[in-house]
Amino acid sequence: SPGVSAEASDDKKTSKQVVVGFAQIGAESEWRTANSKSIKDACEGAGFKLQFSDAQQKQENQISAIRSFIAQKVDYIALAPIVETGWDTILKEIEDSKIPLILVDRSIKTADGSDKYWITRVGEDFYKEGKQLAQWVKDNQEKLGFKDKATVNVYQLEGTVGSGAAVDRGSAWADTMKDTKFKTIKSQTGNFTRAKGQEVMESWLKSDKGNIDLVFAHNDDMALGAISAMEAAGLKPGIDIKIVSIDGVKGAFEAMIAGKLNAVQECSPLTGPVLVQTIQDLEAGKEVPKLKYAEEKLFPMEEAKAALSSRQY
Ligand code: AHR
Repeated sequence: SPGVSAEASDDKKTSKQVVVGFAQIGAESEWRTANSKSIKDACEGAGFKLQFSDAQQKQENQISAIRSFIAQKVDYIALAPIVETGWDTILKEIEDSKIPLILVDRSIKTADGSDKYWITRVGEDFYKEGKQLAQWVKDNQEKLGFKDKATVNVYQLEGTVGSGAAVDRGSAWADTMKDTKFKTIKSQTGNFTRAKGQEVMESWLKSDKGNIDLVFAHNDDMALGAISAMEAAGLKPGIDIKIVSIDGVKGAFEAMIAGKLNAVQECSPLTGPVLVQTIQDLEAGKEVPKLKYAEEKLFPMEEAKAALSSRQY
C-alpha cells in the first residue's frame, strides 16, 4: 500500500502474534486439568495468544466456540473433540474459513470418511492403551489371584459414550480378552468423572457384591470414585476387588502406593509443547505428520513409589 515499503510490511508480518483458539472438552478429570495447563503454559511460553474455551463436556458448546473462533479470524483452531461423530457441518465451515484445524487428544470420524479437514492430530493411542492394560492383566493372573479361577468377572467403567477414548479402549480390551476366562459382566458409562464412577460402582455393589473380581476403568478418575465406593461398602480395593485404569495422574499413583489400585496404563496429557511445535513448524512452512502419538508406559502398583517423584501430572 502507498507509503509502506515491502520491507516494513514484511516486518509486520513476522512479528505478528499467533492467535490460537482452543475448544477444550471441559474439566471432567485430573487428566483434563493437566492437559489444559500443558496447553496454556506452552502457548504462553511461545508468545501465542490463546483463546481458551471450556465446553463443559458438551459438543454443542465446542461447536459454538469454533464458530466464534472463525468470526474472530484466529490463526489456528485446536479442537479436542468430545465424541467422534457429529462434526461434519462445522468441519465444512472451518474448511471454508481456511483456518487450519489441529485435533488435540481425541479422534473424529467424518461421514464421508475423509481426514482432509484437519492438518494433524496431536493425540494418544487409546487402542494401544487398552490393549497394553488388558495384556498386563492376562500376563499377571497369578499376582492378581486369578490363576485358579475358571472365570474372572470384569466390570467395566466406560468413558464418555461415543468418545474416541472410550470406543478404542473398550474395543481393545474386548479384542484382547476374546476367548479368555475374562468375561465382561457389566459395562456402564461413568462419563470420565470421579462422581459418576463412584455412583455406578455403588449401584453395582448393591446388586452384585461378591460377584465382582475386577474393575476396568477407562480413566483414573472413575477408578478413584469406584475405590471410594468399595471402601464405603467395607471392601478393600486392590485386594477384595482388583482394579486397573488408564491415565497415570498423581491421585492414581497415590492409590497404587496405598495398595488400592493394581495397575495404571499411562495416557499423556502433556501435549502442549507438541501442539506449539506443530504450529511453529506450520508457521515456518514445514510439513507436519498427519498424526503424532505420545509415548505411554504401564505402571504396576509395585513400581508406583519409585516413579512418583518424576511424575509431571
Ligand atoms: O481423552 C482422554 C481422556 O479424557 C482421559 O483418559 C480422561 O481422563 C479424560 O477425561
